[in-house]
Amino acid sequence: MDTNRLSKTLAKALNDQMTNEAHNAQIYLAYASWANEKGYDGISNFLFRHSNEERNHMMKILEYILKRGGKVVVTAIPGPGADPVSVNDCFEKIFKSEVENTTSIYEIVNMSMAEKDWATWNFMQWFVKEQTEEETLAMDLLSKIKVAGGEKAGHDALYTLDRDLAITPDDAVLAQDVTVEKP
Ligand code: FEO
Repeated sequence: MDTNRLSKTLAKALNDQMTNEAHNAQIYLAYASWANEKGYDGISNFLFRHSNEERNHMMKILEYILKRGGKVVVTAIPGPGADPVSVNDCFEKIFKSEVENTTSIYEIVNMSMAEKDWATWNFMQWFVKEQTEEETLAMDLLSKIKVAGGEKAGHDALYTLDRDLAITPDDAVLAQDVTVEKP
């Protein structure tokens, strides 16, 4: 008896998304190593932690495919691309890749809605919220760098930013989670 509960199309999209998350993990890993080489230990630590988060996202999708009786296809992971040329460039690239990731997640939400696969639709809502957090976090970091001078940020400003990032929480606070007591 066939117990597979995922359509071919959605299984393919989820497998592709698994690779996207693994690709993001590689990007964070490469940028973390770059930051470490440049002496930005706080930024590097933050990015290493985030790489692990991306791998967890990959695993979350992998487990979902298995639980729905689908076939997991593990493929090669595309490389992270060139190193950033500056801290500003690093976070601009990260923001761009998070926005691209959001687009592919929204596409899976669309597909699951079209197929009336409400289990997958429901599963993907976690990722929709997670992407809002990731984009907010990247936007907050870009704002900090902008205040520090963007591409022209001086050593002092980058030193402070690096020190702050070592203790920056991994998750951003979302508008929908804000309360009057805890703005
Ligand atoms: Fe798993 Fe940053 O997206």
